[in-house]
Amino acid sequence: MPESPEPDGLDDLLALAVDVAREAGELARRRRTEGVSVAATKSTIADVVTEADREVEQLIRRRLADARPQDGFLGEESGAGEASGERAVTWVVDPIDGTVNYLYGIPHFAVSIAAVAGEPDARSWRQLVGVVYNPMTGELFHAVRGGGAWLGERRLSVSTPGEAGALVATGFGYDPATHDGDFARLRRVMPFARDVRRAGAASLDLAFVAAGRLDGYFERGLHPWDHAAGGLLVLEAGGVLGGMPDGVPGREMTIAAGAPLAERISAAVYQ
Ligand code: IPD
Repeated sequence: MPESPEPDGLDDLLALAVDVAREAGELARRRRTEGVSVAATKSTIADVVTEADREVEQLIRRRLADARPQDGFLGEESGAGEASGERAVTWVVDPIDGTVNYLYGIPHFAVSIAAVAGEPDARSWRQLVGVVYNPMTGELFHAVRGGGAWLGERRLSVSTPGEAGALVATGFGYDPATHDGDFARLRRVMPFARDVRRAGAASLDLAFVAAGRLDGYFERGLHPWDHAAGGLLVLEAGGVLGGMPDGVPGREMTIAAGAPLAERISAAVYQ
């Protein structure tokens, strides 16, 4: 397998991810002000894609390919790049995470861009850099493997819940057939939660755990592009990122929190 980038190379990857996320975010914000409509539905009628999702992903894909033609790519809307041998770096991208918020004009969505070593599979990848950018607030969260997680100049650190319990976020995905299970898991978490949030953008949920704005987060049904960048933020902020199966975040379960709370959430959701 080709060598993955050393620390200096990581700074270059981060600079590129930040530039591209800002440009993509501005395009998403502009399109939002012009009005947004559904272009197509995906897994269920509630799972939508807008023209802006596609356009923003194309922009990101083009910019990354221009700068680093040798890298792989996996995007929510356009899928994986053609395989051409083993790659050192793959970009894992959600152009607009929080598409339903975007559609409804709720200013809580983000461009999520991660670079991982190897294939875009959470069972084997090594997350190298992660950027989560909300163009409506201007907040840009970033992390480099081994270099901490940051919101601008502020280094981030996960929180420890107090006596009142944990502020926990979750999500319910788009398939009504899975909601009974989602609610059952949430019911088991509530005894140690002070309250629950469902804000609608997994990458920002993870960024908020990294920033201590949420104590913990769990959700079933995530794809690699939902958690690749935010997951690195959590790890670099001193948190634990787990899931199913075998502690790997993904479709079956993703859990993010400081270690003690992550354990409590795991025990509750896997009951
Ligand atoms: C979705 C959001 C949402 C989560 C879904 C994701 P999308 O991503 O992150 O919070 O509950 O599971 O698919 O579709 O808006 O990019």
